[in-house]
Amino acid sequence: MNYGWPDDHTLRAAFALAVRAPSVGNVQPWRFRISDHRVHLSLDSMRVPSATESGQRDAVVSCGAVLHHLRIALAASGWSAVVRRLPNAADPNYLASIDLVPHRPTMFDSALSAAIPRRQTDRRHFSSAPIPPGYLGLVNERAVAQGASIRQAVDGARTRLVAVLQDSAARAVGDPSYRLELADWSGRPTTLDGLPARKIPQRSAPEGSPTTITAGRSVASRVDADFAELLVLSTSADDRLAQLCAGEALSAVLLTATNVGLATCALTEPLAVPELRRRIRVGVLDGRGYPQAVLRIGWAQAGAVALPCTPRRALDDVLERYEATAC
Ligand SMILES: Cc1cc2nc3c(=O)[nH]c(=O)nc-3n(C[C@H](O)[C@H](O)[C@H](O)COP(=O)(O)O)c2cc1C
Repeated sequence: MNYGWPDDHTLRAAFALAVRAPSVGNVQPWRFRISDHRVHLSLDSMRVPSATESGQRDAVVSCGAVLHHLRIALAASGWSAVVRRLPNAADPNYLASIDLVPHRPTMFDSALSAAIPRRQTDRRHFSSAPIPPGYLGLVNERAVAQGASIRQAVDGARTRLVAVLQDSAARAVGDPSYRLELADWSGRPTTLDGLPARKIPQRSAPEGSPTTITAGRSVASRVDADFAELLVLSTSADDRLAQLCAGEALSAVLLTATNVGLATCALTEPLAVPELRRRIRVGVLDGRGYPQAVLRIGWAQAGAVALPCTPRRALDDVLERYEATAC
């Protein structure tokens, strides 16, 4: 059945919001194609920062985040996305096909869509103001709706998680391959991917100052002095479908938190080391589920300045064979 199709302006506006999704190292490893009233999302394997299992996982999770951002942006503009995940078993990089049907936007769609441009990865220390338990409950509900779950690390679990994050930071110091990869993808002064120079570690800056923006491993090393709540996003399986859903859940969680004014930071570097990932699985998740991301979440410090925007690739670089189709 033909349900119509969004006009060109609506589609481009939705994609422009979708690509604000977070991605590991800001590599934006996604590619969209539109043909015959259908959107296709693929993993751009040339943009996966490393061929390791964790590199692939982070890239698929990032694509899940862009898929959820697109779903939200479309829903807010009156189109519901009907998604088939991994539609072709012979092509694991073909992650989703998306059909569109007219939809009456809800307040929820509008609120999450409005949160997209406001969400930023905030690597600074957070304030000590507590997060109301209802907010964390809501965040978990949103993760569950996408096929994942959230575990808040408290008491002994928090101590064990902080120890893992610190071990991850310590390993990074002596890891030449990590340093090479970070150098390749970060400190780029003008490019539209990777981490721009203004968002990488300023180790000499005083704690809490607006310039103490740090990459994952250095923030992890100071996490014991931080008031952020630590959450672990996990899935019950660990295959590509679960990782895609984890990315959708990550997006839902980050946008939900942003919508209520919370600052957020996703971390997956500690999951790159199988032994550290196993320690999180056992020590925080009680052996149930597979960790897909660690999240720092909290209130920005009073007077914290607005973060600079992380750039994105041009829409036409990620949206192929764009065909404006008449309604
Ligand atoms: C799967 C995934 C893993 C990430 N891992 C880390 C990490 O370990 N450390 C970190 O500082 N940021 C991490 N990030 C955040 C990205 O660096 C960030 O999304 C990207 O630079 C774009 O910036 P923005 O989120 O401010 O738009 C991760 C994001 C995703 C989606």
